[in-house]
Amino acid sequence: MVHATSSVLLLLSLALLAPGLTAEKCSLAGNWTNDLGSNMTIGAVNDKGEFSGTYLTAVADTPYNITRSPLLGIQNNTVWQPTFGFTVQWTFIESTTVFTGQCFVDKNGKEVLKTMWLLRSRVDDAGDDWKATRVGNNIFTRLRTLKE
Ligand SMILES: *[C@@H]1O[C@H](CO)[C@@H](O)[C@H](O)[C@H]1NC(C)=O
Ligand SMILES: *[C@@H]1O[C@H](CO)[C@@H](O)[C@H](O)[C@H]1NC(C)=O
Ligand SMILES: *[C@@H]1O[C@H](CO)[C@@H](O)[C@H](O)[C@H]1NC(C)=O
Ligand SMILES: *[C@@H]1O[C@H](CO)[C@@H](O)[C@H](O)[C@H]1NC(C)=O
Repeated sequence: MVHATSSVLLLLSLALLAPGLTAEKCSLAGNWTNDLGSNMTIGAVNDKGEFSGTYLTAVADTPYNITRSPLLGIQNNTVWQPTFGFTVQWTFIESTTVFTGQCFVDKNGKEVLKTMWLLRSRVDDAGDDWKATRVGNNIFTRLRTLKE
């Protein structure tokens, strides 16, 4: 009897553990939104960890002519909570942002991208170089849109 009970408990605990054990490695492929309301769409990640996509920012120095801008990046696609980096080349203003971060997966399988970025703005001459780079951070979560 004792033996049977412990077998049942073992099966039960395996069933409860299974979702955690089979948790997928975090892939950046998909749609994401961040704490500023900016959205990005990332395509399939290839077997080298490379990916491309587009970024639609919610904030800009020139907010009246924001357009979706291309991004290019790479992630470690073999580990569970991978690090990554990507570059956005803005199409509506002459500047470039590089992001670096890590994908974390919580107990419920919810993914969050913790990132930091450097934004390089174009300046007219090297004397202004000192003020041309800004730094910040963003947190991204999966964007789930309801088809209407
Ligand atoms: C992801 O965003 C794109 C727009 O960039 C949209 O066309 C697509 O339907 C979205 N996919 C999902 C699964 O929401
Ligand atoms: C990001 O997507 C959400 C949901 O589709 C939308 O409400 C929001 O306006 C988008 N942000 C930008 C900057 O377009
Ligand atoms: C990911 O990181 C591991 C070490 O943690 C390394 O062995 C592996 O080659 C890396 N994969 C890629 C695609 O960079
Ligand atoms: C975007 O707007 C800014 C100022 O509002 C302007 O200087 C710039 O030329 C515009 N960019 C494009 C691509 O129209």
